[in-house]
Amino acid sequence: MSPIRGYVFDAYGTLFDVHSVVEAGREITSDPAALSAIWRQKQLEYTWLRALMGTYADFWTVTEAALRYAVRRLGLTATDVQLRRLMDAYLSLACFPEVTSALQRLAGRPRAVLSNGAPAMLAAAVAASGLAPHLDQVISVDAVKTYKPSPLVYALGPTRLAIPAGELLFVSSNAWDVAGAKAFGYRVAWCNRTNAPEEELGLRADLVVSALDQLPR
Ligand code: LAC
Repeated sequence: MSPIRGYVFDAYGTLFDVHSVVEAGREITSDPAALSAIWRQKQLEYTWLRALMGTYADFWTVTEAALRYAVRRLGLTATDVQLRRLMDAYLSLACFPEVTSALQRLAGRPRAVLSNGAPAMLAAAVAASGLAPHLDQVISVDAVKTYKPSPLVYALGPTRLAIPAGELLFVSSNAWDVAGAKAFGYRVAWCNRTNAPEEELGLRADLVVSALDQLPR
């Protein structure tokens, strides 16, 4: 096997804890975890649907639409100010506790983010979490105006890093993203933070870890 020459990380759920928006949700519901779960699931569904329909709108727009859906689905009401506050939580997401030191440990080879996030959302989250010094590139799907798991998105990694996909380790906590990256041709590590079952898509991660500090150097 050829050595790994660079790392490509998914952002939301892998570096950044999207359920850290739960706190912001307390203002409009007594069950903010349910709001957060539906919000996240619908956000992903909208990316898949928009990718298939060829109707790209950036991740900020999709995330806001998913929030409005989740609020209605749970029969809640929220003012525009409350919705704005929930959306703003996306700009200052916490990263998982081991992320900074794990990225530091991998220094010496390029470390990139490849995410559905809109460029401004990613820039804000990277700045808020202090990860900027530990990332060499932050790549947004916005460059190709579609979403994971489109191969057009995964191709951005090898193109921008000038390293073939088979020599890059793609790291994601999202099992469906693991499958997408594997189908494209990356070496893939699944950071299975929640002890989730594997997807039944006939595509397996090369490596499964439970946190990023277990990644091989
Ligand atoms: C991302 C989503 C998949 O960051 O979490 O691309």
